[in-house]
Amino acid sequence: MNQITTLLEPDTQQDQLLPLDTEKIRQDFPILQRRVRGKQLVYLDNAASTQKCVQTIAAIRKAYEQEYANVHRGVHTLSQIATEAFEGARKKAQYFLNAASEKEIIFVRGATEGINLVASSFVRPRVSEGDEILITHMEHHSNIVPWQMLCQEKGTKLVVVPINDEGEMIAEDFDRLLGPNTKFVSVGHISNALGSINPVKDIIRKCHSLGVPVMVDGAQAAPHLAVDVQDLDSDFYTFSGHKVYGPTGIGILHGKAEHLESMPPYQGGGDMISSVSFSGTTYNEIPYKFEAGTPNIAGTIGLGASLDYISEIGLDRIAAHEKEVLDYGTEALSQIPGLQFIGTAREKAGVLSFIIKDIHPNDIGTILDQEGIAIRTGQHCAEPVMDRFGVHSTARASLGLYNTKEEIDALVRGLETVLRIFA
Ligand code: ALA
Repeated sequence: MNQITTLLEPDTQQDQLLPLDTEKIRQDFPILQRRVRGKQLVYLDNAASTQKCVQTIAAIRKAYEQEYANVHRGVHTLSQIATEAFEGARKKAQYFLNAASEKEIIFVRGATEGINLVASSFVRPRVSEGDEILITHMEHHSNIVPWQMLCQEKGTKLVVVPINDEGEMIAEDFDRLLGPNTKFVSVGHISNALGSINPVKDIIRKCHSLGVPVMVDGAQAAPHLAVDVQDLDSDFYTFSGHKVYGPTGIGILHGKAEHLESMPPYQGGGDMISSVSFSGTTYNEIPYKFEAGTPNIAGTIGLGASLDYISEIGLDRIAAHEKEVLDYGTEALSQIPGLQFIGTAREKAGVLSFIIKDIHPNDIGTILDQEGIAIRTGQHCAEPVMDRFGVHSTARASLGLYNTKEEIDALVRGLETVLRIFA
C-alpha cells in the first residue's frame, strides 16, 4: 500500500475518526484547483462521477509509460510486471471489501456490468415462470432493467418494494413481499437519487433465513462508507471505479466463491479458458472464468491506487466528514425559500436532491454553472423515483471526501442568485 503521509499527522495516525484535512486532500485533486466560467470550481456532482487524485493519475501514467504489456499471457519481463500490478489491484479490492479471497473479486466495466453478469450467469439458470425477483422502488435503472429483461425472457415476476415519503424502503412491505416465490433479491446500498441508506445487513439476514441470495448494488455506497462483505454476508456486491475516485470503465464484482464456482461464464473469449478445441472447451478457474478478453489493465491498476487512497484515509473518517457536510448542507438549504428536499431518509449519505418552486432543475443547474458550481439535474437514471415523488426531475448536489462547508455556502449563494433571477 502506498503511504499518504501528508494526510495524517504521525502521532495521530491510529485515530480513525480524526477530522479530514480537506485542504491537504484537495491538493491531491488537481482539477479542484481549476476555474470554471471565471469562478473557482465547486464540484458537487460526485454521485455522477468523482474526480481523480494524483496518486491514481500517476499509477495510470506509470502503467502506460513504464510497465505496459498484456497480462496473464507473456513470459517476458514487462508482461510479468504488468500482471503483478494488475493482480495487485485485485488484492487491494479484496482488502477494500474484506472479501474472504481474491478469487472472489471479478473485474468488470462497472456496477452495471456486475449486475448484468449476475443476472445472466447466476439468476437466469435459477428462475422460471412464477418465480419472483425482488428489488426496491429506489433503484437506479441499472438495478431495474437487467431484471426486467430477465423476467421478460423467463416469465419471472419483478416485485418492487415501495418506499415512503422520506425515500426509505418500507420494511413491513419488504417482509410481506419476500415470500416462497422469491428466488433473488437485488438492492441498492445507497440510493443515488435520494441518498437513502438501505438496511442491507438486515435485508440479507431476512433473505438468507428463507434461503434467498442477495445482490447489493454498492455503486453509491463504496465511496461513502466502509463495506465488509463478510460481515454483510452479501452473495454479490458490486461497485464502479469512477465513483471511488478511480477510472471509468472498471469496477468490481464480489461474489461468494461457492456461487462463482457454480456459475457459467458471462462471456466467452481469451483468458477465460483453460483449454480450447473444436470438440470442446474447458473454462478457467475463478475469477478468470468471468474475465474474457484483454482487460482494462491501466484502469484496473488506477482503481487499485484509488482504493489504496481512500482506504488509507479511512472510510469511517470519510463517512463522518461527509455526514458533517451533509448535515450542514441540509440545514443551509432548508433556509432557501421554496426549496423542497426529495429524499429525507433518517439514514442518508452524500446527496442533497431538491426542487425549488416551479423552477426547472435544468435552469437551476445552468445558473449554478455560471457560478462555477457543478451539480447534476435530471432524473439521475432513476425515473421510478421521480414518479414516486411526482416530479419530473430534481437538482442534486452530491458530496465527496474533498467537499467543504465553504462549498455549501457557495451553493447557497448560487441558489439565492437563482431565486433573484426567477423572482
Ligand atoms: N448513476 C450516476 C448518477 O447518479 C450517473 O448520476
